[in-house]
Amino acid sequence: MSGNKTFTIIKPDAFRASYTGPIIEIIEHAGFSIKNMRLVEMDNKMASRFYSVHKERPFFSRLCKYMCSGPIIVIELEKENAVSDFRKLIGSTNPEEAEEGTIRKKYASSIEANAIHGSDSDENAQIEIDFFFKN
Ligand code: CMP
Repeated sequence: MSGNKTFTIIKPDAFRASYTGPIIEIIEHAGFSIKNMRLVEMDNKMASRFYSVHKERPFFSRLCKYMCSGPIIVIELEKENAVSDFRKLIGSTNPEEAEEGTIRKKYASSIEANAIHGSDSDENAQIEIDFFFKN
């Protein structure tokens, strides 16, 4: 059975462009409840830990640098079937491939500056929620 929690980040490009409000409106309109939310400014050490699963990828250091380039909004969300419904709402990682009406189609500018993150499994959702919200 799929879980009812997911985790998202409004990334630096979207925050800088003042898309936080419109993005949260779309998320709430789609039936997700906000359980926890805060503004974070990551440093390289924190970003490297968060993205450690990608550490062998060629884009890893650029990704970490980009995620430290400004404030981000981290949010714990709740809804039935949260992970899969949220991934549908945000669209493909590469905005050029994202479906019409998705958040990335509307607000992302590149595969790196892709506006928003969504957990890819129930297990990772819990890990990511704990990363930012567990003291
Ligand atoms: P996200 O899925 O939120 O988390 C991993 C991020 O790595 C992904 O979003 C993209 O922002 C980034 N990413 C994935 N693939 C590439 C790529 N080929 N080039 C640059 N960045 C990428």
